[in-house]
Amino acid sequence: MSADSSRVDPAHPGTLAVAAVRALSPYVPGKPISELERELGVTDIIKLASNENPHGPSPAVLEAMHRSLGSVWLYPDGSCHELKLALARHLGVGPECLSIGNGSNDLLMLLAEAFLAPHLSAVYSQYGFAIYPLVIRETGAQAIEVAARPLEAPMPLGHDLAAMRSALRPDTRMLFIANPNNPTGTWTQARELERLIEAVPPTTLIALDEAYYEYGRECGLPDTLPWVASHPNLIVLRTFSKAYGLAGARVGYAVSHPEIAAVLDRLRPAFNVNSLAQAGAVAALADQAHMRRAVAATTRELERLCAGLRRLGLWTAPSAANFVLVRIGARAAQLFQALLERGIIVRPLASYGLPEHVRISVGLPEQNERLLAALAQLHVQDECAVTQVR
Ligand SMILES: Cc1ncc(COP(=O)(O)O)c(C=O)c1O
Repeated sequence: MSADSSRVDPAHPGTLAVAAVRALSPYVPGKPISELERELGVTDIIKLASNENPHGPSPAVLEAMHRSLGSVWLYPDGSCHELKLALARHLGVGPECLSIGNGSNDLLMLLAEAFLAPHLSAVYSQYGFAIYPLVIRETGAQAIEVAARPLEAPMPLGHDLAAMRSALRPDTRMLFIANPNNPTGTWTQARELERLIEAVPPTTLIALDEAYYEYGRECGLPDTLPWVASHPNLIVLRTFSKAYGLAGARVGYAVSHPEIAAVLDRLRPAFNVNSLAQAGAVAALADQAHMRRAVAATTRELERLCAGLRRLGLWTAPSAANFVLVRIGARAAQLFQALLERGIIVRPLASYGLPEHVRISVGLPEQNERLLAALAQLHVQDECAVTQVR
């Protein structure tokens, strides 16, 4: 950090923030529909930028959330008792192993705040989910970024677990792994992941982020929850934002050793998960068939979307999630803008160090068609065409 950035200037109250926070750049999410409407006056917008689930929650979930409105004047159950019991039953874990967050993002922040400090470090992958370096740096801990796999690898730009293992130091208190990873969509198979977890010292916590777990099952993603019992340093994070279609409600969970759950419980804000979100999540768990139908539809569309993108001459990364990483080439920023003008929001990835790529969330069939038609009209073609992977 420069000497200047640590100087306090009373005329600028922002400079009173702690140095680690002053040095942060804020997370930039996918552009909201309302923002595009305001900026360009465009209507009939489709958003394929934040990996939401366009099928949304089931009618039973919406009804449960509506019912909970009747008691919205009361504080929510701060312990999320009913949701924890429902999750415990569904996952086959003890409720004492569960932590509920305002999205899994909340839990990632709480984990970093609880377990990291300026004299410690944490490891994550290049092209890993952008929140990891943010929550690490916020604590003043050193963020160690490990180079991702090369483009020619079977999982191009994905996590290199062996290199991540080698990067661990005695002061490394946390290791962040996303499986599948956002924004690459790449994933790690059970054996490789198990080998890493066995090799990580017990003093390094492993935050295994499975936000897209339900989409990845078909690609052979392991059920990692049974590993938590034998690895007290393993924390598995999942969310209701993706396959369960509740991104706006903000609810995610972590499965960990009960002592880790107890630590997070000390730190979390008293009522971090609102009553509508709790009611919606309980009802969503009870309607697995709806979730599975949405996942199956998205998986089919992912295949179709990728095939369409390849027909346009674009390179796509393999994906075990509800989005795909696409290489556009040097004109990616122009393409992003041209799509905005046509009412289509995708996610530019310059902030991830991937200025020639965009990430496209899988939409409904008609939305994906509209995107493919717009791309065809714009005559996009990957200028650096390389071997297609899937
Ligand atoms: C890999 C990954 N982890 C965590 C999250 C956070 O999800 P949420 O806070 O909605 O549960 C996301 C959201 O996009 C994600 O892609």
